[in-house]
Amino acid sequence: NYFQNDVELLKGKTVVITAGPTREKIDPVRYISNHSTGKMGYSLAEEAKKSGAHVVLISGPVQLPPPQGMEVVKVESAEEMYNAVMNHFGDADVVIKTAAVADYRPKIAYDHKVKKKPGDTFIELERTKDILLELGKQKKKQVLVGFAAETDNVEEYAQKKLYTKNADMIVANNVKAEGAGFGTDTNIVTLFKRQGEIKELPLMSKRAVAEKIIEEIAFLLKDLDE
Ligand code: CTP
Ligand code: CA
Repeated sequence: NYFQNDVELLKGKTVVITAGPTREKIDPVRYISNHSTGKMGYSLAEEAKKSGAHVVLISGPVQLPPPQGMEVVKVESAEEMYNAVMNHFGDADVVIKTAAVADYRPKIAYDHKVKKKPGDTFIELERTKDILLELGKQKKKQVLVGFAAETDNVEEYAQKKLYTKNADMIVANNVKAEGAGFGTDTNIVTLFKRQGEIKELPLMSKRAVAEKIIEEIAFLLKDLDE
């Protein structure tokens, strides 16, 4: 096997990784978010560092200890994550979009606590920017990896995301499967690559999944140079 654990697969490369959820403010005491804990993204950041990369970790609010030996940028909202990613995109050889970005945010974020009143049952929402979609449009000689969290039709939706977002690889997981998805230390993912290759991985620790993803990214980088 050409790739060994102690080989620095990403030596000299800059890898930008987003992790965790975003929070979309309703008012000073409330927000819209999701169940992402950041474990998959933080594992990827550690693996990328181990592989010799310069790592920029752009993280939404999570409970994990800040990793050492990398640049960590903390953000809250999808808009802040978008700006942080764009600030670092020019220097990036690889971007891995592990974060579970909120698709909607309240149209108005109030500075005072909103009081309930009769008949007031709606919060008006608007769409956030799709960061990966934008990266796909601006991509030069860079490797772009997205994630897809699905509960059904995993393959169909993952393939669609691969093309609409112009990604080089989509890491898909069925968040309803036992041992996969939010909060667990394990994951079951399938890798969908641009060239049509599909790799179904068994139940593994998120750390092992991260190692496998980094290995695939090294292959994708090699393809770029040929
Ligand atoms: N993503 C992003 N910006 C958004 C929404 C998603 O960059 N505003 C990225 C995620 O980080 C992930 C990929 O797009 O890498 C797929 O996210 P996912 O939520 O699975 O797909 P969506 O395109 O948002 O579609 P849907 O939620 O309807 O399945
Ligand atoms: Ca989404």
